[in-house]
Amino acid sequence: MSFPPRFLEELRTRISLTEVVGRKVKLVRKGREYWACCPFHNEKSPSFSVSDEKGFYHCFGCGAHGDVIGFAMRAQGLPFPEAVERLAAEAGMEVPKASPEEREQAKREASLYEVMELACKHFEGHLSAPQGREALAYLKGRGLSDETIARFRLGFAPEDRNELKVALLGETITKEMLIEAGLLIQPEDGGREPYGRFRGRVMFPITDKRGRVVAFGGRIMGAGEPKYLNSPETPLFHKGRQLYALAQAREGARATGRLIAVEGYMDVIALHQAGLDQAVAPLGTALTEAQIEEMWRLAPEPILCFDGDTAGQRAAGRALERALPLLKPGLSLRFATLPPGEDPDTLVQKQGAPGLEAVLGQAQSLLERLWITETMAAPADTPERRAALEKRLEDQVRRIQDTQVQYYYRSDIKNRLRDLFFQARPKQARFTKGREPVAGVPRNVPMLPPSAPQPKLESLLLSCLINHPDLIDATAEPLGHLSFSDPGLDRLRQEALNLLAQMPGLDSETLKHHLDAHGFGEAVASLLRTTLARFAGADAPQDDARKGMLHTLGRLRRPHIVQAILEAERRLGDEVSQEALDALTALRDELSRIDDIDDDDA
Ligand code: UTP
Ligand code: MN
Repeated sequence: MSFPPRFLEELRTRISLTEVVGRKVKLVRKGREYWACCPFHNEKSPSFSVSDEKGFYHCFGCGAHGDVIGFAMRAQGLPFPEAVERLAAEAGMEVPKASPEEREQAKREASLYEVMELACKHFEGHLSAPQGREALAYLKGRGLSDETIARFRLGFAPEDRNELKVALLGETITKEMLIEAGLLIQPEDGGREPYGRFRGRVMFPITDKRGRVVAFGGRIMGAGEPKYLNSPETPLFHKGRQLYALAQAREGARATGRLIAVEGYMDVIALHQAGLDQAVAPLGTALTEAQIEEMWRLAPEPILCFDGDTAGQRAAGRALERALPLLKPGLSLRFATLPPGEDPDTLVQKQGAPGLEAVLGQAQSLLERLWITETMAAPADTPERRAALEKRLEDQVRRIQDTQVQYYYRSDIKNRLRDLFFQARPKQARFTKGREPVAGVPRNVPMLPPSAPQPKLESLLLSCLINHPDLIDATAEPLGHLSFSDPGLDRLRQEALNLLAQMPGLDSETLKHHLDAHGFGEAVASLLRTTLARFAGADAPQDDARKGMLHTLGRLRRPHIVQAILEAERRLGDEVSQEALDALTALRDELSRIDDIDDDDA
């Protein structure tokens, strides 16, 4: 009797090894592993270790070793099929009867792994051969060392359509296998010869969590579409269930207790090279539930470090939505925000690991991210709008399935809403032992409606940016974090930011031209017709324009800063920490800088 491999894998994941072992012997936790006296030989001090994470037990005394099925067989003296059936019953899984076709499929899968491994070696070989010179130079030009290239097994697929086929076809490898592995494409019209999928590309092998090659991503070296060509779904490759570099990140994640999810292959590799060897990436799609669960097997709070552009931030938002129902006590996500225009790769190239560590250190909790997303989504300046905000938050909280986690989300959000709407006086700060008491933090922040509509300031900012696009360097960050109250202006803001991010150095005319091509011609024309201040006009001196823009940004940001100050004070009310104090000081400084500019003006 044989079982489909996928069923066995699922069974091993669902059943907790420590639970099964724990019924037989008393387990004591030490770090990430459990220890016991070995049930299979006589001993007084524990040398039997069990790890849920690895899915194995091991006895350092008698060498007994195995997974959960092996344990059940040995501990209960069961033959393999019965051990499987008993465990499956316990996990509530139906035991599939392996049909002859399924047995055939299992055999085919085994040989597909071999095909992929051979293809990987083949591409690797090309990279160090003369035909791979350009590809190697490309990777070196992107800062990768020989060691990194070898570690990630990067390779090169030449332009030739038949090259891989000719090299791999043989007694044991058929065209059908190469097609099933996603390496060859069979033309639609049937008759013609299959040809290589990856041509003229740098090859990034994608491995499963055991390190077996299951797919490839092939990057074009210059401009061109698609930038990355990926393997199709195959019996081995399920892009929604696997993560890039999971096998390489396992050790680092174990050592640091941390896992970093980035967006791209190159991001992962750059991080590993910089010593942050706990990075993984989804495979060109938004993070799925399965991938989130997979990450939680390695670290309780994976940090999402997606690109600072709108696409990256939207992807982070989707991950949050998907994670909410799955949250468990201790299991969550964190969200790190990169400076606009950077991805993790470019940031470590410029600033090394410390630059990225700084960003990771600022990561927000999932609750914080949810709170900011919802409070920034719309103004909350009337009773109806406040009620709407409360309702949106409650709807999200209700999606959390774990009742305990749901309870704590609800109570934290209740406090935040109370502070936001009623500006409750923070409780008397409790000072933790050993810290300097903080002499009364002044609370002289004037209350503003959380988000007063400021269309005039918004128009000013946009006309100034369109007339002086090189001011983007000085203003990208605050402009990227704002959201305008006027939806039309906000779309224009996003479009202009995107264009300027994609095409640095655009001049005003070309920017207008692109905006026009994207359907914003009318909006831009009417905006510029009514330019309201001299600094925003096309002939304003550059320096005036810059000052005017920073000033206007400050005025727009003021209400948000006030809100952040209230939030920071609330946290200090709960517990004083140096970090919270520093954050508050920084916010206060920012507020007084803004108010100083206003005073200078007056
Ligand atoms: P990015 O465009 O951010 O790629 O896409 P990157 O890794 O930073 O690549 P470089 O630095 O430009 O070389 C992020 C991920 O989205 C998927 C890939 O998984 C990529 O790593 N992607 C992107 C595709 O699958 N196809 C594409 O055409 C582009
Ligand atoms: Mn990149």
